[in-house]
Amino acid sequence: MKQKLLIMIGFALLLIVSGCSSFGQMNSTDNDKQTPDEHMDDSENENDSSNDQKDMEEHEHDMPLESSTGENELNIPSILENDKETKEDVYYTIDAQQGQTEIFDDIQTKTLGYNSSFLGPVVKLKKGQTAHVTLKNSLEEETTFHWHGLIVDEEADGGPHTVIEPGEEKDITFDVQQEKATLWFHPHPDGKTAKQVFNGLAGLLYIEDENVKDTYEYGENDFPLIIQDRTFDDEKQLNYEAVKDPDGTMGETLLINGTVNPRLNVNQEKVRLRLVNGSNMRDYKIKLSNDEKFEQIASDGGLLNEPVELKELELTPSERAEIIVDFSQFEKDEDIKLMMDDETILLPFQVNEKKSESENEIELPKESIEINDEEMEMPVSKEVTLSGMDEDVKINGKQFDMDRIDFTQNQGETEVWEIYNEPDDMGGMIHPFHIHGTQFKVISINGEKPPKNLQGYKDTISVDPGDKAKVAVKFEEKGTYMFHCHILEHEDNGMMGQIKVE
Ligand code: C2O
Ligand code: CU
Ligand code: CU
Repeated sequence: MKQKLLIMIGFALLLIVSGCSSFGQMNSTDNDKQTPDEHMDDSENENDSSNDQKDMEEHEHDMPLESSTGENELNIPSILENDKETKEDVYYTIDAQQGQTEIFDDIQTKTLGYNSSFLGPVVKLKKGQTAHVTLKNSLEEETTFHWHGLIVDEEADGGPHTVIEPGEEKDITFDVQQEKATLWFHPHPDGKTAKQVFNGLAGLLYIEDENVKDTYEYGENDFPLIIQDRTFDDEKQLNYEAVKDPDGTMGETLLINGTVNPRLNVNQEKVRLRLVNGSNMRDYKIKLSNDEKFEQIASDGGLLNEPVELKELELTPSERAEIIVDFSQFEKDEDIKLMMDDETILLPFQVNEKKSESENEIELPKESIEINDEEMEMPVSKEVTLSGMDEDVKINGKQFDMDRIDFTQNQGETEVWEIYNEPDDMGGMIHPFHIHGTQFKVISINGEKPPKNLQGYKDTISVDPGDKAKVAVKFEEKGTYMFHCHILEHEDNGMMGQIKVE
């Protein structure tokens, strides 16, 4: 704690000395950006000491998040009712719409949502079922419906090619072939994703499996936490254009499941929290206020081989983690909160006096997720270099072009992708790298075996500046898929490419 304080004071001094006000940067969104040319010139100084780089890097994004006061009970998203369900098939209708939401007491905020005015319901799919989904666009602009983390063909995937015009609808059908997982869905229209997500379009997609024992109950001791940060204007409206940052928009107001200042009531039992980073760019390092351990049981693509004990967990945009917090070890009314590493309070818990007789449990995966020797030995066949900042973000030196295919890969064949985050003269920043239509395995990060909680299936991997990550990627379906940085402004600015799976 003391150390952290000293570091922070040190930083503050550095900021003053260097005369570069981060507030100035945040406020002037568009005007003081470097032109690509300036950027090129600066990069000649690339050999600056890494210390300088570090300082520069920190200037970029400095918008503290306000702690939750805990005055509002956390909203628990409803579960979407199906239109029809048989053993083999399930039918849903999902409608992107605009509306008004009382996020702040007695104030209506204009928002977007799925089947509701803000965010969306939980869509539940069962492994082995065929899903038929009617997608409706009731917005005044085009949108797409992308199923983040879902293994489907390109039609169902909902990338920028499958636009639904205002007032139109479209039916998609796909087989649910994955294991239990917490996935999510959000829009993906070319260049307009960040704004639509910012305004509220995001929903949860749960893959369930009746053959896997799982005693956790939704809304009882199994809660989704969609973590987002937003800036509201003086009228408490969301004005994306006014606050947008081409390097990733952050806000000072925390929303969890759309609730400001959230609090969660729990009983003295094991509770499962399904964390989803639904923010445009903010990165969260999450811990418990008493520094107690918790267990991570699942990552992006589903359950880990076994629970991993952690004290802190990092989630970059679009990443998910399911964690189990054992509240049976805490006293009634004990002061305990979910926090960020900088002590920002995300979610205070109200611990109620109620012990359960039996302990909640979830069965481990039947087949363990391993990198086999063959995959271990495979040479890198796809290299991805992430570079640049603001509007100048690139993948392998290029910006997104809907008409260009960057890579091809055969259906069902594993290839090793190496993702390199090239630092620049500003030090660079984390890029959460995401691939559509697959769940991949992390082989190594800078040549080292990944930490245990990254040894499960992933669809997004955060790559620090200067780092190289190797992942084993296999596509089960055919089609053209996007791969991109999941800082939504980077994605919109062209840090995205396409792979054609044949
Ligand atoms: Cu979560 Cu291309 O998206
Ligand atoms: Cu995706
Ligand atoms: Cu990025």
